[in-house]
Amino acid sequence: MPEPVHSNDSMVCDLSESRKPAEPCSMVIFGASGDLTARKLIPALYQNFKDKQMPPTFRVVGFARREKTDDSWRAELRVALDQFSRTKPVEDAVWREFARNIFYCQGDITDGADYKKLEELLTSFGQAPLRENALFYLATMPSQFGEVIENIHRADLLHRDGSGWQRIVVEKPFGHDLASAHALNNELTRFAHEQQVFRIDHYLGKETVQNILMFRFSNSIFERLWNRDSVDHVQITVSEKLGVGQRGGYYEEAGALRDMVQNHMLQVLALVTMEPPVSLEAESIRDEKVKLLKSIHPLTPDDVARQVVRGQYFAGVVDGVACPGYRQEPKVKSDSNVETYVALKLFIDNWRWSGVPFYLRTGKYLPQSASEVRVQFRRTPHVLFAAQCGERLDQNAIALRLQPNEGIYLRFNGKVPGTSLAVRPVRMHFSYNSEFGAYTPEAYERLLLEAMVGDATLFIRRDEVETAWQIVDSIRAGWDGKALSNREFYSAGTWGPVAAEDLLAQGGHVWHEPQPAT
Ligand code: BG6
Repeated sequence: MPEPVHSNDSMVCDLSESRKPAEPCSMVIFGASGDLTARKLIPALYQNFKDKQMPPTFRVVGFARREKTDDSWRAELRVALDQFSRTKPVEDAVWREFARNIFYCQGDITDGADYKKLEELLTSFGQAPLRENALFYLATMPSQFGEVIENIHRADLLHRDGSGWQRIVVEKPFGHDLASAHALNNELTRFAHEQQVFRIDHYLGKETVQNILMFRFSNSIFERLWNRDSVDHVQITVSEKLGVGQRGGYYEEAGALRDMVQNHMLQVLALVTMEPPVSLEAESIRDEKVKLLKSIHPLTPDDVARQVVRGQYFAGVVDGVACPGYRQEPKVKSDSNVETYVALKLFIDNWRWSGVPFYLRTGKYLPQSASEVRVQFRRTPHVLFAAQCGERLDQNAIALRLQPNEGIYLRFNGKVPGTSLAVRPVRMHFSYNSEFGAYTPEAYERLLLEAMVGDATLFIRRDEVETAWQIVDSIRAGWDGKALSNREFYSAGTWGPVAAEDLLAQGGHVWHEPQPAT
């Protein structure tokens, strides 16, 4: 293992020094009794509070229909925190101090009068910023977004221009195709500017995903290789060992393409391939991502037939445990044609990447849970050791390991010690854990803070969402509602349908399994 580089202060460039601190504000969660609040939002806020990252004064207000008091809601959240907190055990004293800022507002999101109650609650906090600076987190069904936004506007809590700041935070699904995303975006901006809308893609909250830009643009040795002259192809794998479980109802409407490719995978692709932004401003970075997404070569139905593989798992075994087929999962139709796996080959029409294949794959019930970007470099122009080692030496590669075992490794060839002239691939490995200690913040911790500070860099802009839908829609149009063929099924616990191997074989490539880090 390489020795860690010991940094001294002059080498650490802390970009957060120029950041403005979060101002006093209230965060209002609509649909607060849902799973997300207890599993993700409250644990992230508690952690931020514990780490002294929250604004000096803040309130968290849950808005939902069920009857609860402030105290009963706090007690419920406390129990959930024991289960979902990133750091355990939960510190009681910290929790008690944090929980004093949590309130519950019983209300029906369809009833305008209940928003008046919310307005009164925010006013009762007695400090102008706690009423005027507000983060409205819409943890409701997307079909309710428009109504909630209209109601908060009518209750005088949301303005395009006025005192304080108000922001709307939403999560995917951002529609189910371009037309619905467009309509949804219109709803979101009926009473707010686009700059007030913070669309979450939790992949952007992951440290390793954020590190992609740092890795590319703060080193001089890699970026000059990052183009068609050196790169043979790129593989992006986001594999999951779990099936759809209890989410069959949602998944039947989504499928792997909408669930993972439209958002997480295209975001990772954009970060790996975009041009350097002119600055670190949110808009500069998002401009580059959009430019990149727009350069993805459009897929015709014929291209889809050649370049996209879908699959659905049937019963199999993962880690020695028998798993049901997708069609046997709860809330899934017994003749469902929804894909639980998708692999695609994309090309990017620009000077940097012209002709370089980008292979993306994601699926449920695969043998590993791992997300990795592998940049595979071209072969050497001549093999000096061909007589001894054969014509085909292993190609150099850089893998950005996004999760788990977060890190980066460089694969190159080295001499096997001894008198023989044997060459074999070896790895140089940077591991987050060995370099920085076991610190893996939850994506929501960072994202909620950024939303409070008002930095939109890690959130998705309207045109990004819509451009990504264009790509996904063209693939769905290619599938044209056709039923899955026998070749498109895979056994749970395997790496997807055979056709996915063929997709790479056409270009003389093979999938590389994400490497368990050592
Ligand atoms: C979600 C998808 O957005 O991302 C899930 O809806 C998927 O289906 C999840 O399991 C994967 O996220 P992570 O952070 O576990 O890689």
